[in-house]
Amino acid sequence: MRYSHAGRRGVAGVRLIGSRQAIRGSLLHCLADPGEHSEASTVEFFEDGLLLFENGLIIDAGPAASLLQRIGDTPVEDYTGKLVVPGFIDCHVHFPQLDIIAGYGEQLLDWLNRYAYPAEMRFENKDYAAEVAGVFLDELLANGTTTALVFGTVHPHSADAIFDAAQARGMRLIAGKVLMDRHCPEALRDTPASAYEDSLALIERWHGRARLGYAITPRFALTSSPEQLAAAGRLASEYPDVWMHTHLAENTEEVDEIARLFPENRSYLDVYDHYGLVRERSVFAHCLHMDDTDRQYMAAKGSAAAFCPTSNLFLGSGLFDLRAMRDANVRCGLGTDVGGGTSLSMLRTASEAYKVLHLQDQALPAFRSLYLATLGAAEALYLEDKLGNFKCGKEADFVALDPAATPLSARRLSHATTLDEELFALLMLGDDRHIAATWVGGELVVS
Ligand code: GUN
Ligand code: ZN
Repeated sequence: MRYSHAGRRGVAGVRLIGSRQAIRGSLLHCLADPGEHSEASTVEFFEDGLLLFENGLIIDAGPAASLLQRIGDTPVEDYTGKLVVPGFIDCHVHFPQLDIIAGYGEQLLDWLNRYAYPAEMRFENKDYAAEVAGVFLDELLANGTTTALVFGTVHPHSADAIFDAAQARGMRLIAGKVLMDRHCPEALRDTPASAYEDSLALIERWHGRARLGYAITPRFALTSSPEQLAAAGRLASEYPDVWMHTHLAENTEEVDEIARLFPENRSYLDVYDHYGLVRERSVFAHCLHMDDTDRQYMAAKGSAAAFCPTSNLFLGSGLFDLRAMRDANVRCGLGTDVGGGTSLSMLRTASEAYKVLHLQDQALPAFRSLYLATLGAAEALYLEDKLGNFKCGKEADFVALDPAATPLSARRLSHATTLDEELFALLMLGDDRHIAATWVGGELVVS
């Protein structure tokens, strides 16, 4: 059985909510950003480790030899030979674009018209939206991704669909209905007033319910009028603990168009800032064509960047400058950006991130990749008190990675002599086949 969330039961078929449990395996998590030099003190590794959790929260993580003596008859699930890491966090993805992943031949603006907008029009149908939402989240879980920041479509029921599906799976998830009132097909337009009212109703319905959070989601400054951006900014100031999620400086044609539409603003980021959208809990996808003034401003405001390498390569958008971002202290996490991105796997995303940085003479050691997919992403989303590593009190979302899932990875990893080398090869060769199990809130959901 691959997906077991419907039953919400543990491996032995026994209902486990409320009971203490443990898993045994090689535990690896980040305590801080390992940086380009892979600072050893920023990661913790227990080769034969035990992770103890109860009521969906982590109680302890440490060497199995000592912890086993203290846990009495607590059931222990054995992942010996597997690498257990915190659940992956995807900082930017579009669930309605699942069915148009891998669309040939276009850069951003043409790609939107040819693939994304027609796909999003189909979400007028509520049943289709609900069906895609379920398939999408099962794909995330099969890839070890337990939390994501997700774009819907302009239809408010697209947000209901993804929140319903996430709640059914016990996932921590942030999503929002898209705001767009110009420069897109008529059928996908809302208005400044309906964008405000529909988002407000969705915030009231979903934000803070179970493990769910709401993100005000203007698509990008091209498809929102100044009046709509102002409405989004009003909502953002009225609900400071709600997220704001949009695209920024992805493609040079897009950047030129924004400069033409908003001649009075210094930069693309400045357009969003003018409407009060640059703040804590604001997440900007891509951030490719921008300068240090913008980076420093994002950092000062506590906003975050989602680094989406498979999308940036696939759509020919450009290369993310991680060194400049982190030197400026901008919060950064990895995003898949499916359907512009070509994989929901954070392993494959990390592998492409390595290559994007390599092209710019920047290093991306394996531990930093792990950070960007876990704790760094949690920091980008202001969820580091709940997610990102195995600290006591955090939520028990984790993944067991199987280094020997394919003959080639088994062969390559048998030659690894350090943890760093093993993780790096696993990231370069890995995909959903290497996810042996996914646990959400202390429950096994994929095995
Ligand atoms: N910019 C505006 N909308 C989109 C989208 O759907 N995907 C990507 N990659 N960039 C965008
Ligand atoms: Zn996107």
